[in-house]
Amino acid sequence: PADQRLRGRRAIVTSGPTREPLDPVRFLSNQSSGRQGHAIAAALAELGAAVTLVTGPVTLADPPGVDTRHVETAEEMLAACRAALPADIAVCAAAVSDWRAAAPAPGKLKKDADATPPRLELVANPDILATLAGLPADRRPALVVGFAAETDHLLEHARAKLARKGCDWIIANQVGPGTDTFGGPDNTVHLIDAADMESWPTAAKTEIARRLARRIADHLETR
Ligand code: C5P
Repeated sequence: PADQRLRGRRAIVTSGPTREPLDPVRFLSNQSSGRQGHAIAAALAELGAAVTLVTGPVTLADPPGVDTRHVETAEEMLAACRAALPADIAVCAAAVSDWRAAAPAPGKLKKDADATPPRLELVANPDILATLAGLPADRRPALVVGFAAETDHLLEHARAKLARKGCDWIIANQVGPGTDTFGGPDNTVHLIDAADMESWPTAAKTEIARRLARRIADHLETR
């Protein structure tokens, strides 16, 4: 399109699930499809931004015109984000696994004779959003955006998340019974910053992504 308002800007977008190995053939992961994150990467690129998309395993094609980096684990995702710095914009849409196995088994975990299940010790993964938001000022992207999937008390939880993660905006979406956010084509979101909340009408994830990209361009122009 003619609107190239993000030309000269660099963006990092995370998308999809992460996959944390338990042994060489098993892993811990989640249902994220990557649809919203991939659409955001594409929409930022449409407005002229140079976009690095860091994605976990998804079935989606790499968006055209986007430098796409494929990773599996949260630690790999964080390393790929760091490697993509500096950036003006970071949008963390990935569903990062909160935990990983403390020590993935080097060989396939075996059922032993009395079939005692193995005990899995988990450790916390790095928080990519909080890490990017907490970078020293000279390396921190000017606008850091996170997502919050909430089933209740949406605004309250999103505000708390904004503060805890140190990011600038939270895109909150309602998930759970009656919604089809995970994997579905549509999304209902609210944009929350320290001062305000905007509620956007339910729309296709591609449309939400374009609106967010335009909103980001507006914001960068007026600061
Ligand atoms: O804490 P919670 O998982 O609800 O936060 C969601 C937001 O934080 C999303 O933007 C997600 O991409 C980001 N996140 C992250 N790294 C993690 C956990 C969450 O970047 N380890």
